[in-house]
Amino acid sequence: MNEHDSERIAGLLTAGGMVPTEELGDAEVVVFNTCAIRENADNRLYGQQGRILQRAPWVDVVVGTHAIGSLLDLVRLAEREGPQMDVREYTEVFPSALPAVRGDRHRAWVSVSVGCDNRCTFCIVPLVRGPQRSRAIGDVLAEVQGLAGQGVVEVTLLGQNVNTYGRDITVPGSSRRPLFADLLRAVNEVEGIRRIRFTSPHPAHFTDDVIAAMAESENVCEHIHFPLQSGSDRVLHLMNRSYRQARYLAWVLRIREAIPEVAFSTDIIVGFPGETEGDFRETLRVVEEARFDSAYTFQYSPRPGTRAAGLEDQVPKEVVQERFDRLVALQEGISLERNRALQGRTVEVLVEGEGRKGGAQGRTRSNKVVHFEGEPRPGEFLDVTVTGAHPHHLDARDARPARSVTVDREPAAAAS
Ligand code: 5AD
Ligand code: SF4
Repeated sequence: MNEHDSERIAGLLTAGGMVPTEELGDAEVVVFNTCAIRENADNRLYGQQGRILQRAPWVDVVVGTHAIGSLLDLVRLAEREGPQMDVREYTEVFPSALPAVRGDRHRAWVSVSVGCDNRCTFCIVPLVRGPQRSRAIGDVLAEVQGLAGQGVVEVTLLGQNVNTYGRDITVPGSSRRPLFADLLRAVNEVEGIRRIRFTSPHPAHFTDDVIAAMAESENVCEHIHFPLQSGSDRVLHLMNRSYRQARYLAWVLRIREAIPEVAFSTDIIVGFPGETEGDFRETLRVVEEARFDSAYTFQYSPRPGTRAAGLEDQVPKEVVQERFDRLVALQEGISLERNRALQGRTVEVLVEGEGRKGGAQGRTRSNKVVHFEGEPRPGEFLDVTVTGAHPHHLDARDARPARSVTVDREPAAAAS
């Protein structure tokens, strides 16, 4: 989401006549797009937004997430009148109405909703992005079609809680609310888009219609980011996450039955206030059982203004670190095992560019990074044979044009 905001910021400044520079020293405008989700260098340095202008007098403009559209005006105003700040609490212009300079010619993010109506007690998103607001399905489709026309072959639908898309709007001319499943099916019909991804869904809203839409839409990739956060029922309750361990694991099973090739990734927080060794072992248990392909693991970081930040029983840093290391070690082993299962198999990759050690790098539909010999031609679809597995990537050889390129979707198109 933040990277996509950066693309919007670049788009706005470019539309205003500015040109990007390779040399920082040549730049007249430098934008720092900070992230508040966890305590990081940026906000450790600057603290609260409102104080930036006092603490960093060389800053000319401060904009919050809702005011990105005003950035260019503020930069111009700052030239005449000095430092400007706009950290308003509500967006008038949906960010996708802003121009974007996209970082990748073949893969694009498409924002379908912003904000979140949940109140996970650790999370600052509802405070900085506001309540959920969905974009009209027609606007999303128009953007995806436009992107396809420019040669984009993969889109990632973005929303803080992407699978509750539509519950705050109605289909034009009707009182019906569009559903995330409708959106997936509609994007699946856009000519030229070969891969559809989405992030992030909330497990509790991963309903049967979404699973069916995924299973039946051939361009929707077999990868689900399925944030667990904790495996302990007690901690899930304290986090204000609505599901419990047993339900979560049942969903994983059911989705695997419907979409056999599916890969799961997850988010896990270690050291939520009050987390005991017993709670943490429950998380390890779920990780053992769910067999995620990959996991983003985070040490809990108190965010000012969130409910959890005020809880007693913050877990000591050394304890969090020790648990974190155990979790990472367990998951690395499982990731490796999941990747080893692909050895010898043929997988389709979309080429992204050069590999780190020469050769090319691509990505499978299941979102696994693949390194292979050959000319890196970004945007190309290739079939490769997997020869080696690592926790975070696969090695492959025998790159050849993907068979599926010739598979067309005539039957589906004819039916509609
Ligand atoms: N501390 C640690 N991790 C957090 N996340 C969100 N807020 C916090 C926090 N305060 C993690 C969650 C979320 C991911 C984007 O970041 O796991 O899913
Ligand atoms: Fe934050 Fe996601 Fe919870 Fe919303 S659903 S409050 S974005 S963690």
